[in-house]
Amino acid sequence: MEKLVVTGPTRLKGEVEISGAKNAAVAILPATLLINGTCTIENLPNISDIKISCEILEKLGAKITWHNKNCITIDTSHLTTTKAPMDLTSKFRASYYIIGAMLGRMGEIEVGMPGGCKLGARPIDQHIKGFELLGANVSVEKGKIYAKANKLQGTSIYMDIVSVGATINVMLSAVLAKGTTVIDNAAKEPHIVDVANFLNTMGADIRGAGTDVIKINGVEKLCGNATYSVVPDQIEAGTFMLAAVATKGDLLIKNCITKHLESTTAKILEVGGNVEDFGDAIRVWCDKKPCKANIKTLPYPGFPTDLQPQIGVVLSLANGTSIINESIWDSRFQYTEELNKMGAKITSHGKTAFFEGVDKLYGAPVCSSDLRAGAALVIAGTVAEGMTEIYNIEHIDRGYENIEEKFRNIGANIKRISE
Ligand code: EPU
Repeated sequence: MEKLVVTGPTRLKGEVEISGAKNAAVAILPATLLINGTCTIENLPNISDIKISCEILEKLGAKITWHNKNCITIDTSHLTTTKAPMDLTSKFRASYYIIGAMLGRMGEIEVGMPGGCKLGARPIDQHIKGFELLGANVSVEKGKIYAKANKLQGTSIYMDIVSVGATINVMLSAVLAKGTTVIDNAAKEPHIVDVANFLNTMGADIRGAGTDVIKINGVEKLCGNATYSVVPDQIEAGTFMLAAVATKGDLLIKNCITKHLESTTAKILEVGGNVEDFGDAIRVWCDKKPCKANIKTLPYPGFPTDLQPQIGVVLSLANGTSIINESIWDSRFQYTEELNKMGAKITSHGKTAFFEGVDKLYGAPVCSSDLRAGAALVIAGTVAEGMTEIYNIEHIDRGYENIEEKFRNIGANIKRISE
């Protein structure tokens, strides 16, 4: 077992390079199953979710060549099975993208229910609704999903709720369907645009990604034979932006798309931080105690739920009482109990939490309940006086490339210890 040990307080200063987006990459890898040929993917984040995704693809028959830790060539010409390995798919959420991709390519898939962070109920009814409207038979039995279709037929699909996963999954299944599919009330996150751009580069015909109506004209096949670079991770960038504010530091965050960070920038300015926008880099600094602010998490372009715990650290140190309303997940305030062990004063009731600002946090042993909670604890450990030991860091490794090295390079006193 490994833990992170952070000794603070430290003001973070310097430059940090952002990796490729986890939530784009975990969809692009299964999307390669739609290609009858090869493609090269660059700027993959070197994280455990990507390694597991690659193992799943190999079990399905894909051949993967690693050029370096962030770049692969993948040959999906000869798939050998339609049964995905349950021991691997149960390890993370995005394994459900295998369903859309394999339905499109092979017309059949058997896969275990996806795993992932425990954030409350995570139904997949909208994914299933989309597959069924396209003509697939889907059944869920004893923790397994079986989906089968002779030939998927394009149709109109209205999503009852805005879902990142369902939008991408249905898009994947519609790429090789006959005719045109229209997804209404689609999610608009940058990673949805990135997956559509990847598929179009490989030969698909998808229009409107990034708006709430996506139109997919089915094509005969995807030939691939192209190279694609994954978009920078806006959540990793936002994590460092908020780390700069929480620690009263000064960071230049490089290789990001600042357009994707507008809601985070707006909130940083509201709490009294400073932001300088260079388009593909952003400088964030703060030299005073943050002011209180109220936040409601929303689908893009609203404030992202995946930065809610990180801004929670900022608000726990603010001047006055702030309120966060979490509108996406039922159970995303587990980290507040850990912050309270470090001296924060947070009370949560259902999907609302009240942050009474304190002057200081103090080091303590804490547990990372999920990926973004873990990132928030790294920030909290950097601000806190004394030593913070963070346990369950496998959650953090699922989504952040070299988190301790990146924090160490900007001044944090952080080390990984094996026990
Ligand atoms: N929902 C349904 N039915 C569905 C699908 C979703 O009711 O069929 C509900 C969910 O319960 C939730 C809301 O719709 O209340 C939004 O869920 P969404 O489908 O958008 O989430 P997801 O695709 O499962 C992705 C990210 C999450 C991120 C959310 C919201 C991936 C692999 N995961 O999850 O990322 O929080 O979108 O932006 O893309 C993370 O990276 O830490 C993380 C949890």
